[in-house]
Amino acid sequence: MSKDFWKNLASNGPISILAPMDGYTDSPYRQIVKKVAPNTVCFSEFYSADGLVHSKQLQQTALAHNPSEKPLIIQIFGKDPEMFRKAAILIEQSGAAGVDVNMGCPAKKVVKSGHGSSLMIHTDTAFRIIEEMSKAVSIPVSVKTRLGWNNWEDHLIPFVQGLENAGANLISVHGRTYQQAFNGKADWTGIYELKKHLSIPVIGNGDVLDYDDGMKKLGNLDGFMIGRASFGNPWCFLPGGYIPTLAEILAIMHEHGRLLLENKGRKGMLESRKHLVQYLHGFAGVKEYRKSLVSVENLEDIDNVLSRIRNEHAGLLNTKLERGKEAMVEVWEGEGCGL
Ligand SMILES: Cc1cc2nc3c(=O)[nH]c(=O)nc-3n(C[C@H](O)[C@H](O)[C@H](O)COP(=O)(O)O)c2cc1C
Repeated sequence: MSKDFWKNLASNGPISILAPMDGYTDSPYRQIVKKVAPNTVCFSEFYSADGLVHSKQLQQTALAHNPSEKPLIIQIFGKDPEMFRKAAILIEQSGAAGVDVNMGCPAKKVVKSGHGSSLMIHTDTAFRIIEEMSKAVSIPVSVKTRLGWNNWEDHLIPFVQGLENAGANLISVHGRTYQQAFNGKADWTGIYELKKHLSIPVIGNGDVLDYDDGMKKLGNLDGFMIGRASFGNPWCFLPGGYIPTLAEILAIMHEHGRLLLENKGRKGMLESRKHLVQYLHGFAGVKEYRKSLVSVENLEDIDNVLSRIRNEHAGLLNTKLERGKEAMVEVWEGEGCGL
């Protein structure tokens, strides 16, 4: 993939992206998003650059992906430019379309180690990381960051200009500060201002409910990222406020469970519990099924619950199910960056 990947994509219209989410955006999740909304660009969960370099096992789990996920961007975190350089080479060899650096995670243990948001204040290290990676690979190098430590006015523009000069090919900005962590509403004002000072594409992120909402927030930007609103709702990436029928939802739930089993075995079945309940968010009678879904052990258990829903709500199968989108972005859960 050439370094112009993002510029070329942006020249075809706004880019719609699945945000990186630790504990969520694994290969099965991405395959589901691409099946429903093939024009979406998917970001992986974040992985330790050092871990990728040193652990064959992590290389296998983090880098393996299905051709249907392409173009896939793999996100890494850390603080050592040499580790980032080596990890970027492994990511390029895996066939990924790009490598993204996490400079926004506010989780205490991440920041304490000098990773994530910490790089917004250790700017020399941040620039060296991007320089080393850009020189080492021919795939595009991007950065996902936040507005700043406690505001955007003081540092966002010079910081990101430094990243661009170091070789970054795309910037995504979550419209919250480090200190804001996950509180309050995302503010895109600083992101629109930033875009005026760069020549690389800029992506806005924070509180987008679906594709149409992303287009409303787009302003002068090149695209938007959707994170939490995609939980149990891969249809959020479709233009026109697409609402799935109950039958479509149940079919995707089965497929998500099947992919988790195929990819992760028993671990995938345990993980399916948190994903599958999200699909029934706002569905009347969900309580009853939630209890069963959070204790599934295998695909048969999942299919039994889905059959029960089909039988008990046969009259609704072809009905479009409007689910409360706003409620999805009120929730912060998960591990790592989501905490
Ligand atoms: C469970 C969870 C895990 C996350 N993990 C990551 C991550 O690994 N890397 C990252 O850059 N951001 C991570 N984030 C932040 C999201 O990418 C995104 O910036 C944030 O959720 C705001 O977007 P949203 O309002 O569309 O959810 C995570 C968020 C959540 C909720």
